[in-house]
Amino acid sequence: MNRTVVLVISSLAIIVLAGIFLFNPTDTAEQQRMEKAAELYDQYCNTCHSGQVAEAPLLASLQVLSKEALVKTLTTGLMKNQAALLSPEQINDIADYLASADADAPTAATQGNCDDTASSESSRAPYPITNWGFNLQNHRYISSEQSSINEENVHQLKLSWVFAFPNATRARSQVTVYGETLYTSSPTGLIHALDRKTGCIRWTYQAEDEVRSAITIGLDEEGKAAKLYFGDFKANIYAFDLANRSLDWKVKVDDHPVATITGSLNLFEDRLYVPISSGEVISAMDSTYACCTFRGAVAALDANSGELIWKQHTIAEEPSEHGKNKKGISILAPSGAPVWSSPTIDEKRRLLYVGTGENYTRPTSKTSDAILAFSLDTGEIVWSQQALTRDAWNAACVIPGAPNCPPEHGPDFDFGAPPMLVTDESGKDWIFAGQKSGMVYALDPDQKGAFAWKRRVGRGGIMGGIHWGMATDGQRLYVPINDQSVWPADKNKPPKWGLHALQIPDGSPIWSTIEEDRCGDEPLEWACAPGISAAITATEDLIFTGAMDGWLKIYAASTGKEVWSFDTHRDFESVNAVKAYGATVDSDGPVVYENQFFITSGYAKYGGKAGNVLLAFELAD
Ligand code: HEC
Repeated sequence: MNRTVVLVISSLAIIVLAGIFLFNPTDTAEQQRMEKAAELYDQYCNTCHSGQVAEAPLLASLQVLSKEALVKTLTTGLMKNQAALLSPEQINDIADYLASADADAPTAATQGNCDDTASSESSRAPYPITNWGFNLQNHRYISSEQSSINEENVHQLKLSWVFAFPNATRARSQVTVYGETLYTSSPTGLIHALDRKTGCIRWTYQAEDEVRSAITIGLDEEGKAAKLYFGDFKANIYAFDLANRSLDWKVKVDDHPVATITGSLNLFEDRLYVPISSGEVISAMDSTYACCTFRGAVAALDANSGELIWKQHTIAEEPSEHGKNKKGISILAPSGAPVWSSPTIDEKRRLLYVGTGENYTRPTSKTSDAILAFSLDTGEIVWSQQALTRDAWNAACVIPGAPNCPPEHGPDFDFGAPPMLVTDESGKDWIFAGQKSGMVYALDPDQKGAFAWKRRVGRGGIMGGIHWGMATDGQRLYVPINDQSVWPADKNKPPKWGLHALQIPDGSPIWSTIEEDRCGDEPLEWACAPGISAAITATEDLIFTGAMDGWLKIYAASTGKEVWSFDTHRDFESVNAVKAYGATVDSDGPVVYENQFFITSGYAKYGGKAGNVLLAFELAD
């Protein structure tokens, strides 16, 4: 063949191939399938995932997940009710439409890869961090025995390793620490035991559903780590045996279909105290849903057997019909008053304190937005003090005229941060509680919780005000304020983004460090702001914080002056070969131990930005 013929033939071949490529019938079918999937997404998902429902992750955050993770979420996970009307094919198509091709490298993140596993995990270690609040009174205080980081050396803190949770748009399980091992969990329900120094994986355990809370460590008689306790999104409680690395027992503590565990469990005298919350605020968005039937509760379980010792609802009365909504569907009340943070133990009075959230429907109860005291022994509610009456709200309220939004329409001022029990210098005990309204309260445990003082610290909002947790060294109360501009309680007041210190016991202000907006003037697709929603942590002379815009800051406890900072809103290289990125810091707080400090970044809810990392910082020599 001469060159011209070859050229003509190859050109023809290219045209034919290009034709096949451009007009490929299967390709058109694929396009149509994706167009249909986009329509389904608009019809069934977009109402909530476009920013209207604060709690729902934005579309961009769903697009970082793998197909497998999306299908699981829609069939058996978080979104199974929202996708109930879809066929398996439609779910498959929506998952293909949303899925990210490079979502994960699961094997790298789900298999042990440390060199010397058993030895260092089982040796005895002093000063472990065994629960979310660092003590039974939820002080979130790290002693100088536990950590050597202080105002003099804090500038030496450097990023030492990054662990990335695969298929995650958020990282929110605060680590607990025993010796050389960290325990944490992930949105896929995978529990990780990580090496504290390198982040390598000692072992993993797959729970049935997402575990949002910190993993509580149970010690044996010699003080060695023996058991792990945690609760999942389906209200299952697990006891995991460390010696055999196997499940000891698992029990479901609430039969309500959307009951869930958000707060961490507290272990005291061989009993586990379990806070019970729910996702029914979201179910209420469906106008054909008979809203609402969930009541918050606390349960006490035998830590050895999982047997239920007592369970007490925050609302005594069972919900019954109170009229119908505009669609003719029954309205059920009273409902709500969930408990979504870790219970506080009062050994002296043999009481347990929790804060509650709002009611979901009208009529409201006297125990919503309240501090409740339960008898440790019987579960009886010994007293309750309500901070705000008639607060009825559910997520239907974000849609104008939605049938299931109660007439009160909020303001949804939960106690999300657990109450703290503190003994002042004179030996008198106080309960300090921070509310989403931006208010801090002092209650007198010797006067059935009567309010001793109330102080406004932030302007408040649906995410706080005070959201997940304050901290105390016994002399001062450190109050993080979120004051998001997206859902403020009062737009006319200036936000008090940042950290505030109050004197114990009278609550007089000592200092306030108000942060400037660091997000720039460009319009962003997420609710970037310098407010502190995540829980904070105090040491003898430092306060550790993480903000919604991804900045970590450490402040001097005496003055509120910033002494260290780090921006987590960036990509990282992870030790487990999973694509790693940080963004919004929310929910769980910093954990400080020896010369290290650990915190998660990424939280694709409430307008926050997706991320999936656990960061370890260490004092560089
Ligand atoms: C009624 C409001 C609502 C509807 C409708 C809805 N979602 Fe959601 N979705 C939420 C909320 C709220 C969350 C977060 C829940 C939580 O974390 O407790 C969520 C979470 C998710 C997650 C989990 C993200 C993660 O990081 O794990 C995925 C995936 C998801 N939704 C996909 C969908 C898809 C696809 C549809 C449509 C078939 C849909 N959702 C419909 C409100 C909704």
